[in-house]
Amino acid sequence: MEHTPHICPELEQSLWVLYRDFFDKAEKKRRWRIREDVPWSQCNPNLDPAVADVVETFCAVELYLPDYTSKILPLVRQSKGRAWFYANWGYEESKHSLVLNDWLLKSKHRTDEQMADLEKMVYTHEWNLPQDSQLGMLAYAMVQEQATFLNYRNLKVRCHELGGDPALERILGFVSVDEAAHYGFFFDCFALFLKFDREASLAALRRVLNNFNMPAIHDLLDAGRSRIAKVKDLQIFDQDIFYRNVYLPIITRLGLTRKELRSPVQERKSMRVN
Ligand SMILES: [Fe+2]
Ligand SMILES: [Fe+2]
Repeated sequence: MEHTPHICPELEQSLWVLYRDFFDKAEKKRRWRIREDVPWSQCNPNLDPAVADVVETFCAVELYLPDYTSKILPLVRQSKGRAWFYANWGYEESKHSLVLNDWLLKSKHRTDEQMADLEKMVYTHEWNLPQDSQLGMLAYAMVQEQATFLNYRNLKVRCHELGGDPALERILGFVSVDEAAHYGFFFDCFALFLKFDREASLAALRRVLNNFNMPAIHDLLDAGRSRIAKVKDLQIFDQDIFYRNVYLPIITRLGLTRKELRSPVQERKSMRVN
């Protein structure tokens, strides 16, 4: 596995500036507290159970945090900007699993025993890096955070339509803003790499965009196939949404064309997001 190669000092300096800016903005505008900032008394036990099933799925994805952080840090440890980012990112992602867990319990959509079973199931699977280089993981993270942002934002809309839950809607608002900020940081980093090494960056992005899967959901699928069907039924995320709201905006913002993103024929695989 490729560890962070010696990044040129100017690129590393730019990455560090991006991180400091990201962190300072997060401290000023984006910090929220699980106990104080969610209207917990307004949880809705009568909300459509399909929404709670999706919340449980997203909670499970967030529970893979130990694998995410422990496997990515060795790849970026020579880049202070990216390593410090992941330390802060881990804190923010840990809040996501905590707050979703709390909502499932307080809204009475799940019991303590059910949550314990979910954790047990998650920890029997190990998540592995979907890309084997730091640049591949940067491209993956950029795409995945934007997809995650859309998943949460669309779930918030469905939640409102299917009975409403002021607590969950507030939570999904906080979490989706965090995910959008993560996407923004990875996007800015990737744009720097694209300027620095265009060919390698394009190759990394091509591999990710042409084979994208949401993390961990597939592992859960093995344990319960109905989960992903729930996400599909609520039309929270699908191939069309991926193409319109992830693929196109990313390549357009990077100033790339679809032609540049096309894989050589022998490597081409169908785009999979489900
Ligand atoms: Fe998250
Ligand atoms: Fe995130």
